[in-house]
Order: sequence, then C-alpha cells, then structure tokens
Amino acid sequence: MSTAAPYVPPFPPRPARGLPPLELLRTARRNLIAIWPQSSFEDEIIDYRMLCRQVVVCNSPTTVKEVFVDKASTYNRKSPQQRHALAPLIGDGLFISDGDVWRERRRVVAGVTHISRLAELAPNITSGARDRLADWHARGNGSEIDALTAMAEMTAGIICTTIFGRTLGGAAAASVVEAFTEYQAIIGQTDVMSLLGLPDYLPRPRASRVRAAASRIHRVLDDLIAALLDAPHRRESSLLRAMADMPLAGSGVPMDRRAFRHEAAVLFMAGHETTAALLAWAWFILSQDPASEARVHAELDTVLNGRDPDYADFDRLVFTRAVIEETLRLYPPVPLQAREAREAGEIGGHKVAAKALIILNAWLLHRHRKLWPEPDAFVPDRFLPGGPGLPSRYAYVPFSIGQRTCTGSAFGLIEAVLCLATLAQHFRLRLRPGWQVMPVCRLSLRPGGGLPMRIEARR
Ligand code: HEM
Repeated sequence: MSTAAPYVPPFPPRPARGLPPLELLRTARRNLIAIWPQSSFEDEIIDYRMLCRQVVVCNSPTTVKEVFVDKASTYNRKSPQQRHALAPLIGDGLFISDGDVWRERRRVVAGVTHISRLAELAPNITSGARDRLADWHARGNGSEIDALTAMAEMTAGIICTTIFGRTLGGAAAASVVEAFTEYQAIIGQTDVMSLLGLPDYLPRPRASRVRAAASRIHRVLDDLIAALLDAPHRRESSLLRAMADMPLAGSGVPMDRRAFRHEAAVLFMAGHETTAALLAWAWFILSQDPASEARVHAELDTVLNGRDPDYADFDRLVFTRAVIEETLRLYPPVPLQAREAREAGEIGGHKVAAKALIILNAWLLHRHRKLWPEPDAFVPDRFLPGGPGLPSRYAYVPFSIGQRTCTGSAFGLIEAVLCLATLAQHFRLRLRPGWQVMPVCRLSLRPGGGLPMRIEARR
C-alpha cells in the first residue's frame, strides 16, 4: 500500500447541524445527499419528521440487518415517492411492485439474470465495450466527450442486446438514453405531495411531461418486444426470450405483453444508468488519482498485454475490481433506498409509526466515521484479497441487501470491470481544466452538470 495520503474525491459540504424543515425540503429537491449534517456520519439511527411523516434512517449494520433481513416482511414495500416517480414508466414492474406480483416477477427476473447465466451474457458486455473503443479511436486523440453520456450510451447498448438479443440503432439508442435522462430530470425532485401523505389518486405536478417521456420509451420497448415475441422461430439468446420460456407459477403461461413491457423497462432502467454512473465516477477518480491510475494500467498491461478482456479475465483483474468496488462505496449509484413501514413497530429500540419512511442510506453508511478508517478517502486496497475487508456485510450495500437486493449485481460488477479494462487499456480520460465536479443525487448519484473529459491515447 502506498504511504502517500490517499486521494479524497469531492462531496457536498455538510451542514454543521440539522437543517430547518423548509431549507431541508429545498435542499432535498436539489440534492438528496446534501441534507445530512456531520452528526449523521456518526449516528447509529436517525429519527426525524419530514412534514407529517416520520423518517427513520438505519445507520448501523445492526439496524440494517434488523430492517432489511430480520423484519423484511414488514419493511419490504417501496416508498410512495418511488412508486409515484416510477409507475408511469414501469407500471407494476419488479422494482416497485409488492406482494404476490413482486414475488412472481422476482422469481422470473432473478432466474434469467442469475449468476449461472453470466458466461452466456458476457459477450454482450465485451462487444459493447469494443464498440465504444472503436468510437474513441475514430474520434481521435484529444477529443472531448461527456464521460457520463458516453458510458450511458455504451451500457444502454449492452443492456439492450442482453434484454432483446439485438442492438438498438445509433439514433434509437441516443433517443432512449435521452428520454430516460429527461424522465429522471422531471421526476427526480422529491415528491412533496407523497411526503405529505396525500392519497395516490390526486394528480401530481409535472404528470403530463412524465407521461410523455414514458410513452417515448414505451414505443421503443414495445417495438423490440413485438419483434422478438412475434418471431418465435428466432432463438437468439436474450433475457426476454428466457422470460418467455419461463411460465408463471399457477397459470403455466408466460407473462402478458404489458408485463413484458414493464419488466423490460425495469431491466433497461436498472441495468444501464447505474453501471453508467459507476463507470463515469471511476473515470473521474482515476483522472484525479495518478497512483491508482498507474496501478490499473500496470495490471491491464500484465494481465491482458494488449488483447481485449473476456469473461475469464474478471477474476484476474483484482485491482481494477477493487477500484470499482471502492468507487461503489464512495459514489453508490443508488444511495438512498426507501421503504414504507406496513405497520407500527420498533427499530433499534425506536418506536416506528405505520407508514413511516425507512431509509437504507448507502451515502451515510459507506462514509460512516465509526465503521470505516479514512471514510472519505479513495482506498481501493480495502477491497483487495488479504486487505482489511468490510467492517460488516451490512455496512456495504451498493446493491441493497435482503429480499429486494439487486438481481443484476453480478452482471453490473462484471460489466463495470470489463468495460473499464477494455477502454483503459488504450485510453485515459482527463477532466476539462477548471471544471468543478460535485455529486448530485436525485434518483441516482451523478456528477452534477456532466463530466467533460478529454480522450488521451495511452500508446
Ligand atoms: C453497478 C450497477 C448496479 C447497481 C449499483 C445497482 C443497484 C441496485 C439497488 C441499490 C437496488 C435496490 C433498490 C431499492 O431497493 O430501492 C437494485 C435493484 C434492482 N436491480 Fe440493480 N444495480 C445495478 C445494476 C443492475 C443490472 C445490470 C440489472 C439487470 C441486469 C439490475 C437489475 C435490478 C432489478 C431488477 C432490481 C429490483 C429488484 C427488486 O426490487 O426485487 N441492476 N439495484
């Protein structure tokens, strides 16, 4: 391990004490990770009121386990904010569904994204990464890209081939990525009406713009689904084909077209923005931390020696993987995971009202003073085999934990490592001089204002 002080990447200033209610709401609408005072990075449980609602943040491994594992059946319902935000796009899709619908869809989706299928799915990853490499070669040394957009276009292409067994054309890919970004921008602001506890049937502001962005995405998805399901003789390997071959329990027939649309939207949304944000943060950090960048390059040169990586290389790229895992700690793409308490109860000895918002806050937990040495510093060695390891498996939750844990975690991790390896073997990225980077969280955690970076050939 190097003896130089480790690099500390940027984070929003932390208020000295808790914000008063109106300022809290205003700040939350701008950036959900900017509301937490210093003390939140030391407390074990945070219990406050936001408007009329009780909010409880599980901020220790013990409370995380209690809520997300031991008492999961009381706390596995998604928050009303998430349901309102996402229902126009994903309907009753897995990400926000509940009860029997969730159980059945989870069985189908977890089955088709299972780790045992990764060797079959990995060529979609490596081919998407090679396409981006060709794009960067074509653009040429010194050209500027937005790293987040570049990563989103690449991961959208990869997830599209993985779900549908075919690529989206260039214009369609760009249009879907743009529609998802627009959707997130419109809905990403905290849904104050739901926080106030107003009923679901009352119309929300911005509803027509949300519906228009969702329809744009649905049109593309419906065409892709029809092309695949109306041609059953075509047997290309894809998640959708695997779902079509997996009958629902009880009825014995596959899901209907609406369910296919919703699950395709879930996989598309959950499976590309997250990995894109992760990769964008990794490029940014490597551009600021020459020592870690040099170690990645040395590993790539030794393990790959100029050839493109494949699935089998994942286990050999241990430092590159550690960089990705440490990036997930400092910039978890989904930093806040919220649930609604089904009934009154207790968490960590605190009384919890029915309908309280219960939050798993990876932003706080991953930077908790009492859990991690040098909590704000980028120290990939923590994740190396033989390194200090995790303080607890309930302290590191980039993919959530318990019943609703990410079904695509292995896919996302392998995708991030193989894509970074493919591109970083040939190129490094450099931030536009003078550009200030700050993480901003609405639905996912992104570099606010984008990430303009120059492509530089390594050889
Ligand atoms: C680095 C990449 C990724 C990260 C950080 C990530 C993170 C997460 C997190 C935190 C959740 C739980 C959200 C909550 O409970 O509110 C989740 C759920 C989910 N993720 Fe991922 N994810 C990633 C990649 C993927 C990929 C590639 C796929 C699909 C191939 C995927 C599919 C899903 C699905 C279907 C769910 C919903 C599970 C359920 O509610 O039962 N994710 N993800």
